[in-house]
Amino acid sequence: MVTIRALRRSAGLVAAALVLTACGSSGGSDSGEQAGDPSFEGRGPITFVAGKDTTGTVQAALDRWNRLHPKEQVSFIQLPTDADSQRREMIQNAETKSDAYTVLSLDVVWTSEFAAHRWIEKLPENQFPLRKMLKPVVETAEYRGALYAVPFSSDGGLLYYRADLLKKAGIAGPPTTWSRMKADCAKVKRLPEAKDMSCYAGQFRKYEGLTVNFSEAVQSAGGVVTDAGGKPDVDTPEAKKGLDFLVGSFKDGTIPKEALTYQEEGSRRAFQSGKLIFLRNWPYVYSLARKSNVAGKFAVAPLPGLNGPGSSSLGGHNLALSSFARNKATAMDFMKFFTSQDSARTFLKDAAFAPSYAALYDDASLTKEYPYLRVLKQSIETAVPRPRVVRYGEVTSAIQQQAYAALTGVKSSEQALRTLQQDLRR
Ligand code: GLC
Repeated sequence: MVTIRALRRSAGLVAAALVLTACGSSGGSDSGEQAGDPSFEGRGPITFVAGKDTTGTVQAALDRWNRLHPKEQVSFIQLPTDADSQRREMIQNAETKSDAYTVLSLDVVWTSEFAAHRWIEKLPENQFPLRKMLKPVVETAEYRGALYAVPFSSDGGLLYYRADLLKKAGIAGPPTTWSRMKADCAKVKRLPEAKDMSCYAGQFRKYEGLTVNFSEAVQSAGGVVTDAGGKPDVDTPEAKKGLDFLVGSFKDGTIPKEALTYQEEGSRRAFQSGKLIFLRNWPYVYSLARKSNVAGKFAVAPLPGLNGPGSSSLGGHNLALSSFARNKATAMDFMKFFTSQDSARTFLKDAAFAPSYAALYDDASLTKEYPYLRVLKQSIETAVPRPRVVRYGEVTSAIQQQAYAALTGVKSSEQALRTLQQDLRR
């Protein structure tokens, strides 16, 4: 249906692909009635560029599109798993103005940078059902009040835990504070089968995941990395308490040293192989862990914090259209298809991707299969976005440097936070 409408629209196309003036202010309209819809031209093969598909579900979704669009095939270009390498490759492609990449799966933290450099097209808001999506998720796709990408999947940090072992150790439910989590680990580790397990891990290698884990620790202790006005405010006692939790946990063995090498996948594998009692990770892990050794043995809870529940960094991916691509009309249709509510439902069912559509979190058949969906919705709605800045690459690199220096004992928490505050201000 979308395709036929789009085809009709494209029939009257004029050349300029950049005539995108209809974007109003932020918030999104799903009326589809706005006069003078901007359109993109060109139909034919396109590419979809994203990080390596660790869930093994993306190609099947692309195949569904390809079966319906034999003359507008999409091929999948998989980049490395870590966000920083993906960003670098996408920027390289943009800087050479290459048309090799059409639709980009952009990490939510890159929108400003890519939009400001005009590496991605401004998109007509009235072409996407943004009102049905979670507001904070839509905001990650905007830059200066205009839409530059379409929410594909969201992400909120979750605490995976070994419910079987907690139960066996006589613990009633998952911890909501860090100190409870440590106390629970002490009890669990008295069980013979758990004596060699480590308590907790997240992602602590020097890459984007460290920025996420550091920010979550700071927020979960009542601090901020940047304040509401976007100014850095990380040299505070609260931020120190957050960083100290991580530093202290490495020192006392709560977090195993190995976790300094963990990205999402390494930490997932450690949890699945029974090395960890608690794991901070994203929703996708649910779909894989339930097919693993720990199937039926784990559950999911909100992240813990210093004095009560913690707070997540807002993660996720949006689809953006490369400014240098060909076949932009096809790309627009593909983006509509891939970000539709049906597609989000399939990705939730098959890969446990957090949907951007509000309704899916309250759908009874889905909450039955994914009992933590309400927890996740709350985690996303209250999640804190990482700094929305054009020079995000420099911001995240500064955070990674200083957080890693503190975790490895090269600097004290205080020194690291002071330097970070100076670096961010600059
Ligand atoms: C996930 C999140 C993304 C984040 C990355 C960090 O892919 O969706 O937002 O930057 O993890 O490793």
